[in-house]
Amino acid sequence: MGGLALNSDGILISNLTLAYEDRAVFSHLSCRFDPDTAHTILGPSGCGKSSLLHAMLGLVKPVSGDISIFGKSPEAARSETSIVLQEYGLFPWKTVWENIVLGMRLKNTSGEKLSDAQVERAHSAAVKLGIDAHLKKYPHQLSGGQKQRVGLARAWITEPSLMLMDEPFSALDAMTRESLQNAALSLYSGTWITVTHSIEEAVFMGRHIWLMQTEKGFYKRFENPHFGDPDFRENPAFYALCLDIRKAIGEAFHEA
Ligand SMILES: Nc1ncnc2c1ncn2[C@@H]1O[C@H](COP(=O)(O)OP(=O)(O)OP(=O)(O)O)[C@@H](O)[C@H]1O
Ligand SMILES: [Mg+2]
Repeated sequence: MGGLALNSDGILISNLTLAYEDRAVFSHLSCRFDPDTAHTILGPSGCGKSSLLHAMLGLVKPVSGDISIFGKSPEAARSETSIVLQEYGLFPWKTVWENIVLGMRLKNTSGEKLSDAQVERAHSAAVKLGIDAHLKKYPHQLSGGQKQRVGLARAWITEPSLMLMDEPFSALDAMTRESLQNAALSLYSGTWITVTHSIEEAVFMGRHIWLMQTEKGFYKRFENPHFGDPDFRENPAFYALCLDIRKAIGEAFHEA
């Protein structure tokens, strides 16, 4: 993993206010995402989850406040950050292989040519994610689940210190979604922040589960000591935690 020695501060969000034109998304949001662990963010549509991830990437500039990613600005940390999007973000005119290695090529300081070690890592990601038989195909020849495996591979092989995922599996049916969650978990290392609308996904994918509300920002955080157990869904503790979170969301909704 890159950047481990610098990770001690994690991701610090201080008094962050984001807005589009004159309309505030949220104001004075502060929190700290611990490094080298997996976070998930659950919140209603429009509360600013994607905007927060985009601000961490330096794509949305804060009106005020500050974001520090392992001690750096989002722009300075950009080469250590990867994102997986809901809509796959694949280039239709590039093969699966070219899509997978795209980020790696862009981040190569010595030009676009891949080293043997990079080719090896890209191949191992394809095998791990079960897409090695499809490398010469184009995205339109893949299922939604396979496309998102390509998106995951592309983000993961650049060895990001910070991996952001914005509703990565929401376009998929329930069974495919679970198999993708398992595949993602098998790749897990470093600091991950996953945004989702699904309580079950937040619980399975998160060591720390943050609840976010419109205008109020983060109001509660749940801990999941079972994070990383691929059989966690069969454990009664999984359902107990889902239920606790469902209740907290219900209470917040009624208070709002
Ligand atoms: N490019 C933009 N221009 C103007 N307003 C925007 C833009 N992007 C988002 N917004 C507005 O900012 C608010 C937060 O949007 P954002 O996409 O961050 O929410 P979200 O929590 O990710 O929602 P969802 O769960 O539906 O993806 C919304 O009111 C949205 O309409
Ligand atoms: Mg969003």
